[in-house]
Amino acid sequence: MQHNFSLKPYNTFGIDVKAKYFASFSTIQELKACLLNNPHDALLVLGGGSNMLFTEDYNGLVLRNEIKGIALVQQDDHHVYVKAGAGEVWHEFVQFCIGNNWAGLENLSLIPGSVGASPMQNIGAYGVEIKDVFHELSAYHIESGEIHKFNKEQCEFGYRESVFKHALKNQYIITDVTFALAKNPVLQTSYGAIQQELDVKGIVQPTIKDISDAVIAIRQSKLPDPKILGNAGSFFKNPVIDLTTFEKIKAQHPNVAHYIISETEVKLAAGWLIENAGLKGYRQGSCGVHEKQALVLVNYGGSQGQQIFDLSTHIIQTIESQFGVKLEREVNIIPTHESIL
Ligand code: FAD
Ligand code: EPU
Repeated sequence: MQHNFSLKPYNTFGIDVKAKYFASFSTIQELKACLLNNPHDALLVLGGGSNMLFTEDYNGLVLRNEIKGIALVQQDDHHVYVKAGAGEVWHEFVQFCIGNNWAGLENLSLIPGSVGASPMQNIGAYGVEIKDVFHELSAYHIESGEIHKFNKEQCEFGYRESVFKHALKNQYIITDVTFALAKNPVLQTSYGAIQQELDVKGIVQPTIKDISDAVIAIRQSKLPDPKILGNAGSFFKNPVIDLTTFEKIKAQHPNVAHYIISETEVKLAAGWLIENAGLKGYRQGSCGVHEKQALVLVNYGGSQGQQIFDLSTHIIQTIESQFGVKLEREVNIIPTHESIL
């Protein structure tokens, strides 16, 4: 157990805050021991720190999950069931599966963070979400000390959502996740840029490795590398609005980037709204809106979490006044603000 421990290397925004107490665990026994010795009520589980914004020092215990291990646990005619420790690095796990020709995760290449955090917000990219390949997870119930299993239905996955962000918030620590991966790949190339990337390379019959390489190339072309420029990916969710509101916005902004998701709902591209509000590349002190992807807020160096939070409030207010749409933060704000705008 470390005291007054700097979290700067443990969050991809590179915010220099301290945890009052900090420890790592690589087995469930170690996790139990950490919790038994927890000198404080407040508890935060940390994976790669790639979806967090610390606005002040953490007055409690931060536990870093380092449970490792990958195992093929079961198979049938069509699927392999692959279990990974929550502390495995997500992208390394994806590459391991691709190397074994286990299909389904290739579109999720290069997402930072850990396997254990992937179900928290049902990570998604380029037409795939983990709910599409998820089988089950095990999680440590903090109050009882028991391990509980959750199937897909019990996780209540939605767009950047799961039960662990709502009804079961702060109650469980995910220890492993099992994925049902296909023996015969069903490639998902519907996201425009993937097909373009394959065409440019002249690939007509892509493998899952080709899809992964295409996704990596697209991501590298627009998303900042946190090792170079602090960020946590998309700072806001793409807002889902009703059709009537959408028609009103479209009447004024015929080019608004959107996806029809049902007969009554439309998802707007928040990046488009931010760019068209004139905020792409906008800078406020040592933080700002990324020049290539307006949905990403960046730390140019030395920014405090509160400054980035204030910038996000400015963006929410600007978008609401210009388009009548309220953006919701996607990044976890730590500590949770009682009255998040
Ligand atoms: P952390 O940031 O450490 O934690 C996130 C949340 O999960 C916190 O609430 C934490 O307490 C909780 N948590 C973490 N581990 C556990 C556990 N084992 N048990 C219980 N709770 C836990 N996300 C996408 O969905 N799609 C993208 O395309 C995408 N692109 C990104 C690109 C960049 C450049 C960056 C920096 C981020 C991107 N993200 C994306 C966001 C981020 O990578 C994901 O949310 C990722 O799953 C976070 O993993 P982590 O281990 O870093 O989680
Ligand atoms: N757009 C703009 N200006 C911008 C950014 C985007 O006009 O500055 C427009 C694009 O032209 C495009 C649309 O918005 O028409 C969508 O852009 P993009 O394909 O870059 O994806 P996104 O909607 O901005 C989402 C996810 C990403 C994920 C990508 C790819 C959310 C909140 N974000 O971004 O996830 O990687 O799609 O699937 O859903 C993350 O969660 O951290 C993340 C990076």
